[in-house]
Amino acid sequence: MSSGSGGEPDAGRRGVLKLGIGALGLGLAAVPVVPAVGYLLFPTGSKGGEGAFLPAGKRSAFAGSVPVRVELHADKVDAWNKTPDVKLGSCWVLERDGALQAFSTVCPHLGCAVDYDPEAQKFKCPCHRSAFALDGAVEAGPSPRPLDALEVQEENGLVAIKLVRYRQGVAQKEPV
Ligand code: FES
Repeated sequence: MSSGSGGEPDAGRRGVLKLGIGALGLGLAAVPVVPAVGYLLFPTGSKGGEGAFLPAGKRSAFAGSVPVRVELHADKVDAWNKTPDVKLGSCWVLERDGALQAFSTVCPHLGCAVDYDPEAQKFKCPCHRSAFALDGAVEAGPSPRPLDALEVQEENGLVAIKLVRYRQGVAQKEPV
């Protein structure tokens, strides 16, 4: 029973209050997670400001011109904060003229995942058949622009990818 004026709240009201306080605590606890990502995953060498660099693997894994698909996970944040593993994006990485390039796997047409066709040596979208050259340029299909490029960083034999994609030929940036 409720105690009315001046008495203790009943068990139901206490439960609601506890739930509210718990939810507030969870919300506040989540706030520092996002800014911490860049620091935890790439404490040195990050250009910062517009997105974190995430580890993509060893430089040697990308030797040669065959694109390698990389999934970018916040697994170190997972271990530290005990939150579920978070997939933050995926990209194709390849070596061209000795330098690494990375492209988002998101098709610029309607957002399907772009595959790599090793026989044709092109990126191809299974949804509406857009095709892209190894530099991301549109070669066929309805895609309105090239594949979005991602920024690559190399350090001590390791490769990291920045979680901001650059629309080629357009001065526009957005998260992966
Ligand atoms: Fe890729 Fe339409 S979503 S061609």
